[in-house]
Amino acid sequence: MSFYVTTPIYYVNAQPHLGHAYTTIGADILARHHRQRGEDVFFLTGTDEHGEPVARAAEAEGVTPRELADRNAARFRALMPQIDVTNDFFIRTSDPEHGRLVQEVMQRIHDNGHTYKALYEGWYCPKCADFKTEAEIAAGNTCPIHGIPLEWESEENWFFRLSTFQEPLERLYAERPDFVMPETRFNEAHSFIRSGLQDVSLSRAKLSWGVPVPWEPEHVFYVWFDALLNYYTALGYARPGEDLRDRFWPATFHIIGKDILKFHTVFWPAMLMAADLPLPEHVFVHGYLLMRERAESDGQPEGELRKMSKSLGNVLDPFEIIENFGADALRYYCFREVSFGQDGAVSVDGFAARYETELANDYGNLASRTLAMVERYRGGVVPEAELDPEVTKDFDDLAADVASLLDRAELTQALERIWQRVRRLNRYVEERAPWQQAKDEAQAGDLDRTLATLVEGLRVVTVLLHPYLPASTTTLLAALGQERTDYEAARLGAGGSGARVSALAPLFPKLGAPTRTRG
Ligand code: MSP
Repeated sequence: MSFYVTTPIYYVNAQPHLGHAYTTIGADILARHHRQRGEDVFFLTGTDEHGEPVARAAEAEGVTPRELADRNAARFRALMPQIDVTNDFFIRTSDPEHGRLVQEVMQRIHDNGHTYKALYEGWYCPKCADFKTEAEIAAGNTCPIHGIPLEWESEENWFFRLSTFQEPLERLYAERPDFVMPETRFNEAHSFIRSGLQDVSLSRAKLSWGVPVPWEPEHVFYVWFDALLNYYTALGYARPGEDLRDRFWPATFHIIGKDILKFHTVFWPAMLMAADLPLPEHVFVHGYLLMRERAESDGQPEGELRKMSKSLGNVLDPFEIIENFGADALRYYCFREVSFGQDGAVSVDGFAARYETELANDYGNLASRTLAMVERYRGGVVPEAELDPEVTKDFDDLAADVASLLDRAELTQALERIWQRVRRLNRYVEERAPWQQAKDEAQAGDLDRTLATLVEGLRVVTVLLHPYLPASTTTLLAALGQERTDYEAARLGAGGSGARVSALAPLFPKLGAPTRTRG
């Protein structure tokens, strides 16, 4: 079974921020989970380097588009190991192989009769690199996303006959209610289609930073056509001498933010249909991470919640968070604080609170206590005992639940299910009070059972948390003397007894404690 997951490719006219890290970590959690299930996984991320926004940003800095692209693509590439992301390839749309494959697919679309040449006139946002329809123009003729004035553009260029895909797209949405997830985003895309599709411009005559149109080489492709195709072209050259398209196309999941819904849920399936290519299984659309803007300037006690973005200057720096708290804590916080799929606010205070109460206390303390008790009462060897049915009944459906939630990319809900068990184990410690059991020789069997159950429960939640917290779970499993991280191991009883545990430094040291080196 193959599983192919992608992130949007990020514009190189900005530097990486938490918003980019967020989507990429989300995709990484899915990739890691499917690897646990033994599937053949391919995980793609990368950078979107062509087009007007990049050309303009380069001009403003007095460098060539390629120089700007090289510099910022390197920053996005460097982000990946820092957030512990395990992408199998990093695509750059300036890769010559990508360009050639874009030309091949677009030529097929052209040969299939889905293009024509005409004059284009309309309101254009240079930051979106998108012409706006009537309904998408905000007050004062501005862009509803960037708030900047739109520009009147007029040029002869090539068009894609999107309008002829109205009916096939409506059929797609009627037949596949899980093509776009969650449901609210499906409805949004569906109603956009039903409101009537207009043809879209596919080439730009005034620009040279892009992939040349093979049948009109003075034009380059409009950046979105070039960009969307990355999901397909990457498979053609990611492994030299190997064509991965048979193995991984169509993609299982495109993970995107809601800002680029229209491109992925309307243009993209239409383009694929026009090129006679199979459609992806699912597009999962997540919401925005929002941050409260600094309010000193307007004298208000609290600022307004805004989408984090470079132009708004309210960016939470992922590099800083990682340095102070570790990548696992960042990965955890993003998906715990904001329900994946919805918008939600993130803040430094919220981060610190969850770090302390959940990672350090709920999970970190459970781990330290459990290991310390096995050490103290049983010489560091996990006792052999029947597991306590009081706990096993609460773990029965856990692994299956998590897998079925993650099949729908419900990252927050799956994490919540796991965390309920972390809390269950903490309650179990209080209920059984092993330190009392240890005082009474007659309760030796009970203590064995308590400790065996605790270790086994802790091991199971740790295997399931592995995609979310790859570094600390690896450390903890090693301390438990049981290193398996595959999905089959996420079952109570799969661990067996007799393991030798070892001491463990706090997984999530309390704030203010001296920082340790993280592996
Ligand atoms: N280059 C296009 C995408 C082309 S895909 C074929 C683009 N790039 S972008 O750099 O602007 O990245 C947009 C994506 O970054 C969003 O869809 C989302 O995945 C992520 N995010 C950027 N800011 C974000 C938040 N504040 N919150 C959540 N996600 C954020 O659009």
